[in-house]
Amino acid sequence: MKDKISIMIPEDKLMARIDELGKQITEDYKGEPIHLVGILKGSVFFMCALAERIDLPVTLDFMQVSSYGDQTQSSGVVRIHKDTDESLEGKNVLIVEDIIDSGRTMSYLLKILEARKPKSMKLATLLDKPSRRVCEVTADYTGFEVEDKFVIGFGLDFAQKYRNLPFIGVIDEIGDE
Ligand code: IMP
Ligand code: MG
Repeated sequence: MKDKISIMIPEDKLMARIDELGKQITEDYKGEPIHLVGILKGSVFFMCALAERIDLPVTLDFMQVSSYGDQTQSSGVVRIHKDTDESLEGKNVLIVEDIIDSGRTMSYLLKILEARKPKSMKLATLLDKPSRRVCEVTADYTGFEVEDKFVIGFGLDFAQKYRNLPFIGVIDEIGDE
């Protein structure tokens, strides 16, 4: 049997909301250049869609991090697997994340990146699960608040699968294939 998946946020709603976020960001930065830093791999789909909808000079960079801990809980100590290619100093940095859950990863990462003296630093997340928060992190731009369910699709994975689904889904039943 295959995993049973149901749709939580359909593609048209996702794209409409990312459209709004792009417009909001374009207004907020008032013509200034913006440097998007995507957190691999989950943020990639959101980052591409968002970047297309920002009408400002945009540059892109990526980081890959993991948080020590077991499979279900991050510890909050972040290991950097891939750092940004370019310096953040003096730039309007917008961190782009797929989902904020406990907030452990992001609160640690924000501290590290703030020390690199960006001109400004903000956080955009496609999804937020505020009911799971352990460390205080507030995104400046949030796509959707979601309930405490494990979600997949549009970049988010379950054991590296399902990142390519064009919607946000939930696994209702895990199959045996
Ligand atoms: P945090 O440190 O607990 O906030 O962990 C956030 C990271 O855990 C995210 O960047 C995701 O990679 C992963 N994550 C948290 N919740 C989910 C989920 O529902 N589906 C897929 N990945 C998740
Ligand atoms: Mg992530």
